[in-house]
Amino acid sequence: MSKVIRVELGARSYDIHAGTDLLGSCGGVCRELQLGSRCLIVSDSNVAPLYGHVVRDSLAEAGFQPAIFIVPAGEESKDPLTLSLIYDEALARMLDRQSFIVALGGGVIGDLAGYAAASFLRGIRFVQVPTSLMAMVDSSVGGKTGINLPQGKNLVGAFHQPSVVLADLATLSTLPDREYISGLSEVMKYGVIQDAEFFAFLEKKAGKILARDPETLERVVARCCELKADVVGQDERESGLRAILNFGHTLAHAIEQVAGYGKFLHGEAVAVGMAYAAILSVSAAGLPGEAAERIINLLGKFGLPVSVKGLNWNAVRKAMQADKKNTGGAVRFVLACEIGRVEPGIEVKEDLLEEVWNVISQ
Ligand code: NAD
Ligand code: GLY
Repeated sequence: MSKVIRVELGARSYDIHAGTDLLGSCGGVCRELQLGSRCLIVSDSNVAPLYGHVVRDSLAEAGFQPAIFIVPAGEESKDPLTLSLIYDEALARMLDRQSFIVALGGGVIGDLAGYAAASFLRGIRFVQVPTSLMAMVDSSVGGKTGINLPQGKNLVGAFHQPSVVLADLATLSTLPDREYISGLSEVMKYGVIQDAEFFAFLEKKAGKILARDPETLERVVARCCELKADVVGQDERESGLRAILNFGHTLAHAIEQVAGYGKFLHGEAVAVGMAYAAILSVSAAGLPGEAAERIINLLGKFGLPVSVKGLNWNAVRKAMQADKKNTGGAVRFVLACEIGRVEPGIEVKEDLLEEVWNVISQ
């Protein structure tokens, strides 16, 4: 059983499948897409031992010649050296322009293997098989791929859409609790920015979501993918609307940088960033106070952080200024006018920025 969501991008359109028993159908799906016979599965040292053989066997049974390349788990692998090792392996396995890459893992693998596919031989096709909640609801959809440089995150990359996304919810059963909960902040984000009804559903079903109830999860992942597909379909390259997906991210990126990458998981930093943006929104975007409370309460219900301690405001403020999404020198925020509707590009008065920081950093 799975739900299928279409990302409408003309010649680059593709389906997202969200359901169970999808790993074993990978070969059949790739055959239907008429992908070339050679393929390289890229996975990490946590995910490959759990699921690598299922995907490899499925591809082999469907007539492909799959090889698997395993990188150490963690953000450190999203780097130029690991990327060059993938190119080496692709050459050693004689991948050609009809060949494809399968990204089996969380967002690190999706971004890294996706960028390898975007750049190898000037671009080959790739398949996203996300196994973390973060990857299922966010990073595997929309075609942003890339790696980090010592100077900063995601500084090299490309928009390269996958040929298909296979989100097998059964893989979430092995995802560590902290990673799962971190992914819930991106889930919540979609409710805040685009869908009040979905937000209310999350409030009502928080217990089932935390228990990873399969039926509830299928609905949650599918709805997030629908909402993201809608935004990406309208603004693939982030010239406008796609910026709404950055709700909570302006402060989050600054927190991750100032605290040192790895201290907070991305979703945890986004949770604090959403609490901050919600409070800012009350004064700067007309969000009713009760709505901000609902956002902060749901973050808390999911066990996500809504405050942060021990970070220096001046350093955080400077890091927000340097965010690569700013234009014309001003820090701009995505703020909520109501639950389900946000406005991007809002400039906020300096004293309010610090005042609200003081609230969430006590
Ligand atoms: P991740 O890929 O590091 O995965 C988190 C951890 O969970 C890793 O240790 C991984 O090995 C493990 N894991 C994944 N699936 C598992 C499973 N089913 N069972 C057991 N362990 C499993 O991190 P992430 O949170 O998935 O993604 C974060 C990355 O995604 C960051 O690099 C971020 O920049 C990127 N990202 C990209 C986009 C985009 O649009 N391209 C959007 C959001 C985030
Ligand atoms: N994760 C934000 C985006 O895909 O645009």
